[in-house]
Amino acid sequence: MKAAVYYETGGPEVLKYEEVPDPVCHRKGVIVRVEAVSIEGGDTLNRFRGRMAANPHIVGYQAAGEIVEVGEEVTNLKVGQKVVTSGNHGSHAELRAVPARSAWVIPDGMDIQKAAAIPVPFGTAHDCLFEFGRMQKGDVVLVQAGASGVGVAAIQLAKQGGASLVLATASSDERLEMLKPLGLDHGINYKEKDVATEVRRLTDNKGANVVVDSVGGSTLQGSINSLAYRGRVSMVGAAGREPMKVDVGAMMGGNQSLSGVFLGAEIATDRVYNNIQRLIEQVARGELQVVIDRTFPLSEAAEAHRYIESRQAVGRVLLIP
Ligand SMILES: NC(=O)c1ccc[n+]([C@@H]2O[C@H](COP(=O)([O-])OP(=O)(O)OC[C@H]3O[C@@H](n4cnc5c(N)ncnc54)[C@H](OP(=O)(O)O)[C@@H]3O)[C@@H](O)[C@H]2O)c1
Repeated sequence: MKAAVYYETGGPEVLKYEEVPDPVCHRKGVIVRVEAVSIEGGDTLNRFRGRMAANPHIVGYQAAGEIVEVGEEVTNLKVGQKVVTSGNHGSHAELRAVPARSAWVIPDGMDIQKAAAIPVPFGTAHDCLFEFGRMQKGDVVLVQAGASGVGVAAIQLAKQGGASLVLATASSDERLEMLKPLGLDHGINYKEKDVATEVRRLTDNKGANVVVDSVGGSTLQGSINSLAYRGRVSMVGAAGREPMKVDVGAMMGGNQSLSGVFLGAEIATDRVYNNIQRLIEQVARGELQVVIDRTFPLSEAAEAHRYIESRQAVGRVLLIP
């Protein structure tokens, strides 16, 4: 099969489009002929400085396609079904092998490109808001990096969950404008305004009850500084690529909390697996939107990663084998 591989981590230019051996089907897994790869924030980070499982390494968490082989112990999936899959690596390829527990069936008639972009960002955003952020109806929610894959999902889920005010940050006014149809009430351009000051101004000085932060570093400090009394930050990523050094000194007085969130630790549990299946069905019914910014051929994976890192994408960029 063809795949986008690299022999060393680094910039987008390390990605090469090459012939590699086909994956082998595990007795508890499936092989999927990939039709759409969703490039996750973690994929660009891993390509930049992540662990390589093999050399060459095929990066990528998430892809959707058709099952072409089923392991002998798998009873709930069959050849010919369309599924969206997640895994630690291997999405940037024509074929991928995953455990059966990492494949979700796509409802009949659903756009496979949209399905490709659901499990990790929507599952993560949901856990950040409700499981770890303990969001309640009426809460003020701040989503850092609102135009990111996780951000686009979190804005919609916060609105759907009854947030009284949904705030989000991004690096330009144009990016924020595109988030308004998804449920964003007020956008904060962090290049021009201090986030915590702006959150206080917009909330009568109360602050945000829940913050979803997938950027980390100095952005995470802004999230902590934006919290309301008893507010919660779900810290879920390091898109900013900065050291995670923050001052938590003021949190005690405000009875505030900071939770690390890692979807991968619980993705195979019934709770998260079933939650992701529900989210896929909500997208299929049109209750949640998947925002696809652009598609590239798989052979142009380097160009697609470069485009994402240029900070122009809103929502997801896909690769099509
Ligand atoms: N822990 C978990 O379970 C989990 C699950 C999913 C994702 N994540 C992590 O969450 C982060 C975001 O994932 P995603 O898929 O939402 O990412 P994404 O769609 O690629 O978006 C990342 C966003 O971060 C912002 N950003 C801020 N500083 C940046 C920088 N220095 N370089 C690049 N982007 C920067 C950009 O928006 P602006 O230009 O508007 O600032 C960009 O849109 C990643 O670190 C990922 O690994 C973790």
